[in-house]
Amino acid sequence: MNIAIDGPAGAGKSTVAKIVAARLQYVYIDTGAMYRALAWAVQREGIEVTDEQAVSRLLEKNRIRLARNQQEQLVFWNEIDITSEIRTPEVSQYASIVASHGEVRMQMLALQRELAKEGNVVMDGRDIGTHVLPNAEVKIFLTASIRERAERRLAELQAKGHETSLEELEAEIAERDKRDSEREVAPLKQAEDAVLVDTSGKTIDEVVEQILEICKRMGEKAK
Ligand code: DC
Repeated sequence: MNIAIDGPAGAGKSTVAKIVAARLQYVYIDTGAMYRALAWAVQREGIEVTDEQAVSRLLEKNRIRLARNQQEQLVFWNEIDITSEIRTPEVSQYASIVASHGEVRMQMLALQRELAKEGNVVMDGRDIGTHVLPNAEVKIFLTASIRERAERRLAELQAKGHETSLEELEAEIAERDKRDSEREVAPLKQAEDAVLVDTSGKTIDEVVEQILEICKRMGEKAK
């Protein structure tokens, strides 16, 4: 069984996807980290982020690898561990622009399908249920109010020592939502057969239990 979890920035996808994967002993794949890795490299190489050809050539010529240690998912650009460098607000904005390029998305789609081909994965992103794994047995669309999403991001960033304000984060998230939802190729959209889960006001545990319940129901249906 494959589980697709999509939704806007800060809805809690990676937090709950990770726990759901651990509970089911599935492999967790964070596709946002792949766009972030490319965005990080674009920044490092000084490539113009809006130059679709140059950005997609950079992806073609290098390797993004996801791995895990006991605590977390690690992200590598070739052999460089960039796990802690891809979560800054600058990389977030760059990632959203990089992700609007059709050629980049085509390459990412192939990489992501390859990662999921053995099955039993929990994959999170924006277009997993609609494009990457349209046949996933379980599709979840996770959302929450902008205020709550900004509050969560603020806590995350503060814990890592980054300085920012709630207002700034709300504006950034709104901008990213707009770009991710309005792009021409594979925009952020709830798949017709996805179950909507609003995480506003819910604890992580509550959301995880709700998703596990949905997996159980859909898994039985798929049998
Ligand atoms: O989930 P995240 O914030 O780490 O994602 C970073 C950016 O990558 C986000 O702005 C949208 C983009 N993205 C995407 O377009 N498709 C995906 N499957 C995953 C992420």
